[in-house]
Amino acid sequence: MLNQVGAGVVITGTGSATPEMTLNNHHLERMVETSDEWITARTGIQERRLADAQGSLSSIATLAAQGAIAMAGIAATDLDLIILATSTPDDLFGTAGQIQHHLGASQAVAFDMTAACSGFVFGMVTAAQFIRTGAYKNVLLIGADILSRWVDWSDRGTCILFGDGAGAVVMQAGESDRFLGFELRSDGTQNSALQLAYRAQAKEIVNGVNVAQGNFQPIAMNGKEVYRFAVQKVPEVVEKALFRANLSAEQIDWLLLHQANQRILDAVAQRLNIPTEKVLSNLARYGNTSAASIPLALDEAVRQKKIHPGDIIAAAGFGAGLTWGAAIFRWGR
Ligand code: UT7
Repeated sequence: MLNQVGAGVVITGTGSATPEMTLNNHHLERMVETSDEWITARTGIQERRLADAQGSLSSIATLAAQGAIAMAGIAATDLDLIILATSTPDDLFGTAGQIQHHLGASQAVAFDMTAACSGFVFGMVTAAQFIRTGAYKNVLLIGADILSRWVDWSDRGTCILFGDGAGAVVMQAGESDRFLGFELRSDGTQNSALQLAYRAQAKEIVNGVNVAQGNFQPIAMNGKEVYRFAVQKVPEVVEKALFRANLSAEQIDWLLLHQANQRILDAVAQRLNIPTEKVLSNLARYGNTSAASIPLALDEAVRQKKIHPGDIIAAAGFGAGLTWGAAIFRWGR
């Protein structure tokens, strides 16, 4: 059945890929003043995957996408749209085009979008709008990041947190509507709490004409501020999205939060009164993979048959911008 606004949205395939190289907490003990005990107790992270110098965002994103396309049972040439949520493109002009080429998705329009660790949720909502209006039927959404390229490996406040990875979903027009509600928010006044910022250096290219030729600076974060923001704002946005979906927190089968810190996952679940066994977590093995963390955890849970068709998932992302948002959906056709 089509809903009142337009086509129904169904989520029919998931995929993920991570680099092979592993960095565990004991490696970090040799790099900065920290300990396995501190990292485990304060974050829940034990190891993370890192891309090496030969690795590219487009290659892990393509692998994740291929898994999602195969599960959805469509061909790459059926895709109408590819959205790549990332903050770490191989090419600042956009990396989605390279992925379109690798996949052979010749009919798809492809573009990058950036909303840091909220990128996947923002991307889901964006994809859903194109499907609702009837503009596109088959959309591939990828969340992928290689933050290790931009981490300050001498800063113990950040280098213990991040890992690299990619996750993807296929969203399609369907007879039923399984994209149930969402809420997205931004607060630019807190932008300085988490940045990967460009710093300009004036360069005089001809007498009297100065242009800015600088570089991006490593990730800088006020951990405490971001922690406080997440624990306060994420429950609010999940509740708002649930309200729009006409559901209550007890009706959720799975809480799928951006994998930033186990203590944030626990605190948000507690505020929403959602029991631990409904909270998906793979932080221990991957750390914070930014835009990839939600689809990576989703893909693992779907393939482990933890998540069943028809299960209701409340997904929420939060991070730089600052941005945060939630999307409520049922898995499967
Ligand atoms: O993707 C979304 C973005 N990011 C996040 O969601 C991150 C949110 N923030 C966090 O997860 C936490 O704030 C951190 C894990 C980054 C830090 O944990 P915390 O419990 O907030 O620690 P803290 O910053 O309050 O630091 C406590 C102490 C400090 O020492 P003093 O001042 O009490 O002597 C820090 O210097 O722990 C020290 N510390 C460390 N010690 C060992 C900070 N980092 C480390 C470390 N190892 N890696």
